[in-house]
Amino acid sequence: MSATSAYDLELPELETMGLERSEVLAAIRDARSRHWLARTPLGFMLSDYRDAVAVLRDRRFHSALSLIPQMAGLEPDSYMQTRRRSILAMEGDEHARLRRLVAPAFTPASTDRLRPFMREVISGLVDAVATQGSCEFVSDVCEPYPIPIICELLGAPKEDWKLFSQWATDIFRIFNQDLAADLPAIERASGQLEAYVLAMIEERRRRPTDDLLSTLIVIEESGDRLSSDELVMLTEAVLMAGTDTTRNQLGCSVALLTEHPDQWALLAERPELAPRAVEETMRYLGAVRGTVRVASEDIVYRDVLFPAGTIVSVALASANMDSDVFASPDTFDITCERDALQMTFGSGIHFCMGAALARAELQEALPLLARRMPDLGRDGPVEWKPPTFGIWGPARLPVRFTPPGG
Ligand code: HEM
Repeated sequence: MSATSAYDLELPELETMGLERSEVLAAIRDARSRHWLARTPLGFMLSDYRDAVAVLRDRRFHSALSLIPQMAGLEPDSYMQTRRRSILAMEGDEHARLRRLVAPAFTPASTDRLRPFMREVISGLVDAVATQGSCEFVSDVCEPYPIPIICELLGAPKEDWKLFSQWATDIFRIFNQDLAADLPAIERASGQLEAYVLAMIEERRRRPTDDLLSTLIVIEESGDRLSSDELVMLTEAVLMAGTDTTRNQLGCSVALLTEHPDQWALLAERPELAPRAVEETMRYLGAVRGTVRVASEDIVYRDVLFPAGTIVSVALASANMDSDVFASPDTFDITCERDALQMTFGSGIHFCMGAALARAELQEALPLLARRMPDLGRDGPVEWKPPTFGIWGPARLPVRFTPPGG
């Protein structure tokens, strides 16, 4: 029997633009009760945990990152179309080779050396607001947190933190709606970052240290090494993939915990719960709510044909609430040991390369914040970013707490 094309199926239609997160999840749940596949303005959507894992692990489904310039209507010869390809847009042997070479630099053991520095950074951010008794948590704590850590990881000095922060902001405009208008700023930032990293590479080749760039420079496997071009691309990928994600996840996790003061208090009392608290907050309120794939060839999955070029989105936030995999998924509990891994870091070959680093950043930040701001509570409504498929979290999170000695 030949498979039916996804385009010929009668499927629930999902339009989630402008809906609140809870409404999005409810709409997806409703669609899923009718069919495991839904039609959306951005291709077809999968929302079950098992489907999400299966598609992300299926190498015939490629990352759709490389389609962004095309979707934005840019000319094929524009800078964006010809620029160095990110690891997230690579597939097959080329991708596998890079991941293999880079893996030793991103193990939990290699990111653990940064934990004392992470505590120092988060402590400094709390010190800056401690006596005020209130702050805007996103701009005061979440936003400044990851850049110093990425710089420390790479080996860039403190005086350059601001530069990195500006480059990250500008290059991130790739995900704004108006790519054509943003292109000059993106190109400028990308060019400056490249020049900076090339100079750093030269310096590290002369005088290696224990930072990430030095590690990546000396990594060698069967005579294979990373080229300067690849080192620049990886640095950009780390800066881009490692800043806004962590910021937003910290905002999501803290916003969620302010709704559960008993669990915040428990975390202050039992910091050893930090790893579980991180997994549970990422499951319940993840900063990356979905990702997109494109069929590289005709693919039959669950008796449905996805013709080459079909776009498939994977709803990670819904997979994280799948009751077939997570018992009582709507219950938020940082003491609970879940049977399955939360999906906010993705799955398959593009599984987050910085997961160990991000986990360490959050595991250090949350218990320290809970201890230093034990009665942290909302000081006004949370303003959420629009719940699109990109990186999501609070835009504003006003909080209050008792200052030390108060
Ligand atoms: C809580 C914070 C983070 C979250 C939620 C997150 C989430 C993700 C997700 C979902 C993917 C896969 C995307 C896809 O399959 O389409 C990914 C890939 C990636 N992440 Fe993260 N990430 C985080 C932090 C970081 C950090 C700190 C780094 C820095 C080292 C990083 C570096 C990367 C890279 C380089 C990739 C691409 C991997 C590849 O294509 O092989 N991420 N991340």
